[in-house]
This record gives sequence, structure tokens and C-alpha cells, in this order.
Amino acid sequence: MKRYYIEGGNRLYGMVKIGSGKNALLPILAGCILIDGVTTLLNVPRYSDIDAMLEILEHLGAVVSWQDENLIVDTRVLNSHDVTLESAGKLRASIFTLGSILGRMKLAKLAYPGGCNIGLRPIDLHLSGMRALGAKINEKNGFIYGNGSQMKGGEFILNFPSVGATENIIMAAVLTLGKTTIINPAKEPEIVDLQDFLNSAGAKISGAGSNIITIEGVKSLHKNIVYEAMPDRIITGTLLIATAMCGGEIELENVNFQHNQALISKLSKSACQFDLKRDKIKMKASGRLKSFGEVDTAVYPGLPTDLQAPIMALQTISDGACVLLENVFEARFKHVPELIKMGADIKFKNNVCIINGREKLYGAEVKACDLRGGAGLVLAGLASEGYTTVSGIEYIDRGYYKFEEMLSKLGAVVRREEY
Ligand code: EPZ
Repeated sequence: MKRYYIEGGNRLYGMVKIGSGKNALLPILAGCILIDGVTTLLNVPRYSDIDAMLEILEHLGAVVSWQDENLIVDTRVLNSHDVTLESAGKLRASIFTLGSILGRMKLAKLAYPGGCNIGLRPIDLHLSGMRALGAKINEKNGFIYGNGSQMKGGEFILNFPSVGATENIIMAAVLTLGKTTIINPAKEPEIVDLQDFLNSAGAKISGAGSNIITIEGVKSLHKNIVYEAMPDRIITGTLLIATAMCGGEIELENVNFQHNQALISKLSKSACQFDLKRDKIKMKASGRLKSFGEVDTAVYPGLPTDLQAPIMALQTISDGACVLLENVFEARFKHVPELIKMGADIKFKNNVCIINGREKLYGAEVKACDLRGGAGLVLAGLASEGYTTVSGIEYIDRGYYKFEEMLSKLGAVVRREEY
């Protein structure tokens, strides 16, 4: 078993180049299924979720290879439309392949998706989106069976701006002749990135990031393309919060600070200094921050739910009380009991946490129960007195690549160890 060993108390200094984002790459990899060509994705960090998605693509018949950090996905020949239980269950994004498989092969059989245990995570919006385009969808014996032979452009109103459902419906519509309109879509930057990626392959998508997305179906995406997905805005936010907790001065390269505007504005009000350039963020933090007072996670451009746990870790040592509401997922507080083991003063009920900031936390043996909760525990360890071990780091590897190296480069004492 692997865990992180962390010695707290070091300030963070230095520069980190941010790699392409997990939540941009996963829908883009699902989008490769639509392309009768060879796709080269540049500078791809090997998050373990990427390997899980590549396993699905290879099972469909894609040929996958790596050239250093560049990933080459050849989807000219696909000879299966099945996503098996074993691979689908490894990640939430397996369901994102439904739209592409139906669009390209007209038949699909998928096991239900996995993903972090942060709530029920239904797929009703995904399935009703496919049906709105004329796909026949049946759920039987733990599988989703789809027939897209009669699909045609249609209109779908999302009653919640689901990120994955928006991406899935876009991909189902790309090769479906006719015009498709998605109303109340998710506006996350990853949706814009997916639009840009698919349009570079010949798709006709517009409106990503706005209230209405339109897709004009095309006959095929017959192209070889080279693309670099957007930088990971959650890793960017995690490092900014780590610096706010530990103090220091960092520079992040290959970033788009607009993607973290909500967090940067909160940190600025709590006495962090920023120098924001087009693709660089410089941040300086010293001393104990003031509490954020109130934290409401929200869909983009609000404070992202994926930064809730790192933000909570920061609030446990900030000066003052904080009311934190998790408004996106109904069970995303598994890191709370672990933070309490480290001396945090947190009361929680349903989706609300009351955090009374303490002068400091103390190192303890804690365990990650999901990806972002694990990241929050690592940050708490970095800022604690004494040493902390974080077990369950296979969750963290899903969305942070070589996280211990990234943090050590900034002066933290973090190492991966067997136990
Ligand atoms: C994506 O998950 C991300 N994952 C999540 O990141 C992120 O937290 C989430 O979007 C919100 O931003 C990937 O992109 C791979 P949703 P997704 O559909 O698509 C409900 C991480 O840590 N809902 O926007 O699953 C759902 O239950 C992960 O990197 C339905 O009710 O999120 C939730 O309450 C965690 N029916 C809310 O919508 C549906 O059919 C938001 O879910 C779909 C979703």
C-alpha cells in the first residue's frame, strides 16, 4: 500500500508549469472516438484516470501510443461498441463515451460509470439527452444499451447544467445530421475546450460557455489533428491554496487566471498578493489569512466544488469562522473527520459546514476517501506542526500527476512511501 509522508511547516517558493487538465482531457479522449483519424495530444500528464480512459478506447479498437508526454490516439479503425464493467467502473468519464460511440457506431453497450464516491451521481440527464436526439436507450442487467441508427438533430433543455451530460450530448450530436440545440448547458472552460478540439477536427459546434450550444451535424470527422488541452484549473487552485496555507511566493506557468477568478478574488481579500499575466500567476502569502467568512461551491464561474476540500483545509487555520456550503454534490465531506483528527474545529450537517479557524493543525495519520478530499488532506499536512501520513493516495493519483514532486519542488517535505 502507498501513502504520503509529509513534514509540515515549510513555506513554498518556486515555479511550477501546469499540465493539461484531467477534466479537459477525459471528454476530449471520448471525443476521439468520433474521429476517423489520428489525434496527437500534447503534454498529457499521466493521471491514472487517463490510463483508465485509454483502456476503454483500446477495447473499442483504438491504437494508443505515447511519445514522451505526447499521446497519440489512432481511431481510424474501431471494431467494438462495448464498454465493459471492469473498465467503465474505474471512472465517471466512461459514461462520456456513450454519445461518441452512438454517433460513430450507432450501437453502444456500456456498464455503469464509477468515479469518486461524492454522491449518487445519477446519469439521467445523459440518457434523456441521448433520447432527445432520437437514440433508443434501454437499461438492463446493469448495462446501458443504445441504438443511434435513427438519431437526428434535436433540442434538449438541461434542468441542471451538468458538465458531463453537456459534453456527452455535444458528442452525440457531432455526427448526427441536423441541428442540435442544448439549452442551459454547463459553462465550464472544459466545455469550451471540447468545442475547440472537436471543431479543429471538422465539427460545427458554437456557443460553448454560453446559455445555448448549437451543433450542426456533419457526415464525418476525417482528419489527423494535433491539440493541447487547457491547463488544469483545479491543480492551479490547489497550489494557490497550498501557498496561502504555508506562506511563501510561487509562480505558476501555463495557466489561464480567468479560470480561477472566484478563488483569486477570495484569496486577495484574505491578504494574498497577486501579479496576474496572460498565462502566468504570481502569488505571495505571509501570515495567517482571514477567514473567507462564507464559501458557496457553485457551477462555473463560481467557486468550483473540486476545490471545496482544499478551501476547507485553508479555512481550518484561517482567522475567524466560516460557513461552507457544498451545493453541487450531496456527499462531499468525507475529508471532514480526517481534518478533525488533525485538530480542526468543524461541525457539519447535510451540505453545510461551520469551521472555526485554529492557529494551527497537528500532524496525524489520515486517509483519503476521494480525489479532492485527499488533496485537501495533503495541504493540511503541509501546514501542520509535525508529520502527517495520508493513505489512499491512489485516489489522489487520479487527478494529480507526480503531486509529491510538484510540491517538493516548491520546498515542501512530501514523499511517497510503502507501508
Ligand atoms: C464533472 O463531473 C467532473 N468530472 C467533476 O470532477 C466535477 O466535480 C463536476 O463535473 C462538477 O464540476 C469530470 O469532468 C470527469 P455533473 P460530472 O454532471 O460530469 C448531478 C474531480 O474531482 N447530475 O456536473 O459527473 C450530479 O449528481 C471530479 O475531478 C444529475 O443529477 O458532474 C451532481 O449533483 C469530481 N444527473 C451535479 O449534477 C446527471 O445525469 C453535478 O454533476 C448528471 C449529473
